[in-house]
Amino acid sequence: MEAEIKKIIEEARLAIEKSDQQSLITTAAKFIGRKGSLTEILKSLGSLSIEERKPVGELANRAKVKIEQMVREREAALGAAQHQRLMQRDTTLPGILPVVGHFSPITRIIRELIGALSELGFEVAESPEVELELYNFDLLNIPPNHPARDQWDTFWVKKGKDSKNSALLRTHTTPIQIRYMLEHKPPMRVMNLGRAFRYEAEDVTHASVFSQLDGFMVDRGISVAHMKSVINHFVKKILGEECRARFRPSFFPFTEPSFEVDVWFNGKWLELMGCGMVHPQVLRNVNIDPNEYSGFAFGAGIERLAMLKYDINDIRLFLSGDPRFVEQF
Ligand code: DAH
Repeated sequence: MEAEIKKIIEEARLAIEKSDQQSLITTAAKFIGRKGSLTEILKSLGSLSIEERKPVGELANRAKVKIEQMVREREAALGAAQHQRLMQRDTTLPGILPVVGHFSPITRIIRELIGALSELGFEVAESPEVELELYNFDLLNIPPNHPARDQWDTFWVKKGKDSKNSALLRTHTTPIQIRYMLEHKPPMRVMNLGRAFRYEAEDVTHASVFSQLDGFMVDRGISVAHMKSVINHFVKKILGEECRARFRPSFFPFTEPSFEVDVWFNGKWLELMGCGMVHPQVLRNVNIDPNEYSGFAFGAGIERLAMLKYDINDIRLFLSGDPRFVEQF
């Protein structure tokens, strides 16, 4: 019996030393658990003679205390080692960032435009994407059957008996001028940023769903000089200080005179947007006296701006949802 108990202690010592945190409990159970080898001996004490029972019982009980102590020591040693490992970790290393969403390049440019123009006192106003023919065309001085309508290929939503009763997907964000001026009196500085739609054969520079900025300012004594300084300010804000604007004569039905704006960017002139002085007929259409007030207006393609700024070569990428594209921003 004595020899057997000594053997159990030795086995236990070796096994406990080899155990890790996970296996320690099962190792201990092999010796002092309910069916452990030492427990079996303790259980069998009753079958021994009185003389044998005392010394063997004492020996077996001391062995149990000893094994319990070895288990506690091993536990403490393992815990200390783990603590040591944790403390050696460099907690100043950057963690792994979870994947988070981000703004599309269009939203980014829209926010930059709002920032650049609000510095100059422009406020954001909105108009609906499904627009009346009256506001998209007629009151902007583009009457039915006017050849200028050919510039805007149109998705019709509803053809009514006249332009007040006909609806379309707005072909530009310019109807804001009509909607806002019908409701407000000058002075006014307004921008409208949003989607526009054209029934168009798509290619690298044409998409049927795209975004536009339209802005205008109306007050007493507004001239082309005001227009040039506002446009120069925001192209510099978006495309960089070295960027500047050049104005060429052009035609839009709702402005007179009208201009095309080119910007000097990356060493060349690039066509960017349209602008001009709000046509006196447009002012009359919204009950503003052109002899008292004047204004300028401008319109820009937002994808076009983003394409210049980020060197993107195909407008169709913006709505493609292709992760190889969107994840670059
Ligand atoms: N609406 C024009 C277009 O879609 C752009 C434009 C040109 C807007 C001149 C304006 C403007 O407000 O003054 O092509």
